[in-house]
Amino acid sequence: MLIGLGVTGGISAYKAVEVARGLQKRGHEVTAIMTAAATRFVGPVTFEAITRRPVVVDQFAPGANADIEHIALASSIDLLLVAPATANILAKMAHGIADDVLSTLYTATRAPVLVAPAMNTHMFSHPAVRANLDTLAARGVKFVEPGEGYLACGWIGKGRLAEPDEIVAAVERMLRPEGPLCGARIVVTAGPTYEDFDPVRYIGNRSSGRMGFAIAAEAARRGAAVTLIAGPTTVAVPGGLDEVIHVRSAQEMHRAVMERAANADIVVMAAAVADYTPIEPAAQKMAKTSDTLTLVLTRTPDILGDLGEARVTAGRGPLLVGFAAETSDVVARGRDKLRRKHVDMIVANDVSRSDAGFDVATNLVTILTAEGQEALPLQSKDAVAANILTRVEHLMARQAPVAH
Ligand code: CTP
Repeated sequence: MLIGLGVTGGISAYKAVEVARGLQKRGHEVTAIMTAAATRFVGPVTFEAITRRPVVVDQFAPGANADIEHIALASSIDLLLVAPATANILAKMAHGIADDVLSTLYTATRAPVLVAPAMNTHMFSHPAVRANLDTLAARGVKFVEPGEGYLACGWIGKGRLAEPDEIVAAVERMLRPEGPLCGARIVVTAGPTYEDFDPVRYIGNRSSGRMGFAIAAEAARRGAAVTLIAGPTTVAVPGGLDEVIHVRSAQEMHRAVMERAANADIVVMAAAVADYTPIEPAAQKMAKTSDTLTLVLTRTPDILGDLGEARVTAGRGPLLVGFAAETSDVVARGRDKLRRKHVDMIVANDVSRSDAGFDVATNLVTILTAEGQEALPLQSKDAVAANILTRVEHLMARQAPVAH
């Protein structure tokens, strides 16, 4: 998505740089639009270097109007974010004053608008500012509330710009489409885990993360709030997700999943988690001293198994989807996992085929639930992801309604 980032003249303008980076990390393109006052706090070059796009500053600069820039931008952005927003820009927006690029862009665009106000506490609570906020809210503009904290002027109170992470999360929420998974929170794991046995070596596997990434992306397209927990991979993480957590080992993935599963409606364990890890990684790089090397490994925690058990114990918990990467007896072994790990769905695949499973774009899976099984034809991982989520939606519909 292309985000127009309007930066106005506040002391927290420097934080907009973090916002731009955060948006880019989620896969968005950012074009910064700075008011003249904002350039007194941060140089346009900073935004230009970060966004790799020209920064729009002066409406009347020669060359800037060849394509009537504010109109071109107005129709190409997917969302206009103003962060930080001063009392001045709020007043201009509320009253339709269009005397610089940003205020003109606001009146010219039909993209959704998100505003992160930042100003002195007394200014923020002034009736004139409140009235402008109300006017904008009534018009459908959304806000990221300023946080409390030390303000540059020494006051403690509301007015400090919301944290960049919060602003980025609010953008993601606004861009999330209406879809069948709207309101659902889903945790998806992807990729391999690396189990270190000395500071430079590890035991890993060939998982690329593609299957999990496809599920995360499809869930986001269907309106879910997605947390992706990814092991080390070189494949680019999809955009549009709420949270992306990078982990390395099975132990780290276990901790990250357990923390987030409590608030999730659905957990999909697409990661190829190592079953064993070196018992005690060497503190120093291991030198070769003999012809053979024996590593002693110990079992890693079974994340999916623990989630299943926790749900049995508590009598409630997220809907659980596991994968079963098999090289023989795919269905029978998958069904065994369904029972043993107390999960709702197992996606079983034959990883011995060259066109399915690890590190390829296609997959051949059989979906197993308590009620039956369904063998899907060979198809792209994106199509497999869509099929899995459609069946997850059916299971959800039969359970309790998704909490909104
Ligand atoms: N899994 C997990 N934690 C582990 C290992 C696996 O959560 N330590 C999850 C995987 O993400 C997958 C499912 O469990 O969703 C099945 O993984 P697999 O390794 O095939 O299952 P195992 O129970 O380890 O079966 P096997 O005995 O065949 O290795």
